[in-house]
Parts: sequence; structure tokens; C-alpha cells
Amino acid sequence: MILSAVESCDGKEVEIKWEDGHFSRFHTIWLRYNCQCGTCHRKLINELTIDRTKIPKDLIATACYIKEPGRFYIEIKDDVPVDHKTELSSAWLREHCYCDACLQHTVEVTSSLTFPDPSQHSITTFEYKDVAEGPALNVFRWLDNLILNGFNLVKNVPREHGTVVKLAEIVCPVLYQTYGKLFEVFDDGSISVFSNTNKGLHYHMDQPQYESAPGVQFLHAMKPRFDECVSGGESLIVDMFQCAEILRKESEENFRVLCTVPTVWKTVDVKMETPKYFQIRKTILETDYDNQLVAIHWNPGTEEAIQVRHDDVTPFYTAYRHFWKILHREDLRFKFRLQPGDCLVFNNRRVAHTRTGFEHNGGERFLQGAYINLDEMRSKYISLGLTLGEKVRFTKIGNRSCI
Ligand SMILES: [Fe+2]
Ligand SMILES: [Zn+2]
Ligand SMILES: [Zn+2]
Repeated sequence: MILSAVESCDGKEVEIKWEDGHFSRFHTIWLRYNCQCGTCHRKLINELTIDRTKIPKDLIATACYIKEPGRFYIEIKDDVPVDHKTELSSAWLREHCYCDACLQHTVEVTSSLTFPDPSQHSITTFEYKDVAEGPALNVFRWLDNLILNGFNLVKNVPREHGTVVKLAEIVCPVLYQTYGKLFEVFDDGSISVFSNTNKGLHYHMDQPQYESAPGVQFLHAMKPRFDECVSGGESLIVDMFQCAEILRKESEENFRVLCTVPTVWKTVDVKMETPKYFQIRKTILETDYDNQLVAIHWNPGTEEAIQVRHDDVTPFYTAYRHFWKILHREDLRFKFRLQPGDCLVFNNRRVAHTRTGFEHNGGERFLQGAYINLDEMRSKYISLGLTLGEKVRFTKIGNRSCI
């Protein structure tokens, strides 16, 4: 695979020409720190094999060569331990090339999201029996669709108390959040929680007051009379990553402002059996090293007054208003009505959800819900896919990272 390798004049870099014509430049320090020799290579999770502070600060390569197929060696001046030779798999090296083109390729693969067009597609559905009782491949396909679109529906989920938890726990244990492991959404005339009224809500992502907001939300339509009697109460979903990219296209300045000027979310309920006090200050949008969008937080219902420098107030509200208007564009939203037994499953870190107001007309709109962690879901998805030999999507999911 390696055609030729040579250390630079000052020995601080190693240049490699590959059989496929690719050219890589690695820093000697990078090669040494990632050595895969018998002494340096980690054999156990968490194992610390070398104390990097013991290695000289300025690492100078004095020779590099291929001794046996697939293994690449570098000799370094004054290396520790004495006589140590840095050794790497050439396939691993090729895979980890960090030239501009390779970095760009990784960014394109990991940050690419597809957004289904609501005018062309309806929400994808799965059957509870297939997911809960079928082969593991069915679970993989369900999660694959969740990774791809950010939301789907599981139909005919038995309308028994807590089945939503059973469905969620096919993926991983549910989270204990502000309102417990299982929460309920119905109009009980609440004067403290707005979602427990019959009013329409604003688009929101649940629980941004946490450092790590819940990743996947399950909402199970329970009552048999829900469909026949209740008017209104439709569900709406909008992809916040699509909205934010539209914002970036329409105004880089407004995008930048939402990435830099923070707002505050707060949820306080000291009257609960276990009193709650959550407060966080963070930006609505988050970008990474490559300026890729990696996280979004949005919930006007729990948002507090911003506390920012004087000059940032007007730009913040200009950007905020612009973003708000984008996410209310009708051509971006999926609108549907949950049928009894439907469970809406969505990535709460990628899409915002809401409902229209409703009238009871003698019936009830009663949902049970649960959350799971986003990274746990992704871990289940990828490991299932790899075990089953299926093609896995390595795209971003909204967990503040592109990889
Ligand atoms: Fe919600
Ligand atoms: Zn080593
Ligand atoms: Zn490269």
C-alpha cells in the first residue's frame, strides 16, 4: 500500500506516497503518540501504556521503513524507552490520514443529513409486533430509519399502561428525567404544566435545561376514544438541522449570533415530591471545529430572559426571530394525527415537535411518554448493524459531535 516514505529534512514530519496516488504528511509527534508497538499499544480498555511526558518534547524522525508487509516503522532520536521503534499498521495510517482532502471527506460523510420532503413523503411506519417480537434485523431497520429521518411511527403498540417503556427498552434502559421514567400528557386543567392543557404548543425540544437533553422521545397515544371524539391535537414535526442550515444560507450573521450569544432555560418545580431546580445557559446553535452544526437547543416554553452584553441583545432577537419564522414554514413540517396505539419516536436533539390545540368533544387525548439517551441509541444501532453485517450510517445525530 505504501509506495515510498521519507522523513522531512528537519525530521519533524514523515511524508508517505501511497499506491493509489494519495500523498500524506504525518507529524513525527503524532506518529509517536499513536505507536502500535507491543509496549505502547493499548490492550485493555482504559489502559495507559505510556507516559507521554517522558517522551522528548521535540521528536525528530531519523529513519522510516517498511520491514514486513503492512507494518511501518519510524526511528526517533533520543526516544524513550531506549531502542524503541514506532510501529504502525499502514492500513490504519491510510485510514487516519489528516490531509485537507481526507478531513474534508470525513466532514462530508459524517455531517451529511437528508431531510425528507413533507410534500413527497409521509412519516415512515413500523409495526410493534415486528419490532418487539421479530428478528434483530427489524430493530436495526427501525433505528436505521430513526437515524436517517430523525422520526418515525410504531403502530399498534398495545394500549396498556407503560408499554411505551417496554418499546423504548428494546433499545436501552429509559432515562429518569424531571417527571420520572414514564410521563403522561393529557389535559388535566393543569395550572403549572402547559402541555397538560388542551392548548396548542410552540415547537420545542424537550428538556434543554439539562446539559444533555434526552435523546430519543417516545410518545404513545393511549386512549381508544382519542381518534373518534377529539378534534384537533395534530402532531407536528420540523427538522431543526434543516431549519438552521436554511438560516445559515439566508444570513450567516444571524447563524453566527445564535452560535455565540447564549440564552437561558430553567425548570423549577419545588412542589414536586422530589423538588426540581434546573437552569442552564447555552447557545441555541452549536458548531464544531469544522464549522459543522452539531447541536441545537430550542424551547421557548422554558426559556428565560437573556443576560448578555448590551450590544448582543438586538442582534440576538433579530436572529432569534428569523430562526423562529423559518421553523414555522409550512413546507418544512410534517403534520399528522396520532391514531390510538401509535407511538411517535423521534430524535429530540434533531427535530422539534408540537401539537395543535384540541377540543375533547367527550373524549380524551392521553399520551404516555419515555426518553432514552441518544448515544445509547446510536451505540445499539451501530453494534446491531455491524453484528448483522448491515450497512451502517455514520452520520451526525445532534449529540454535539460529527463523528
Ligand atoms: Fe414536548
Ligand atoms: Zn511503541
Ligand atoms: Zn489524506
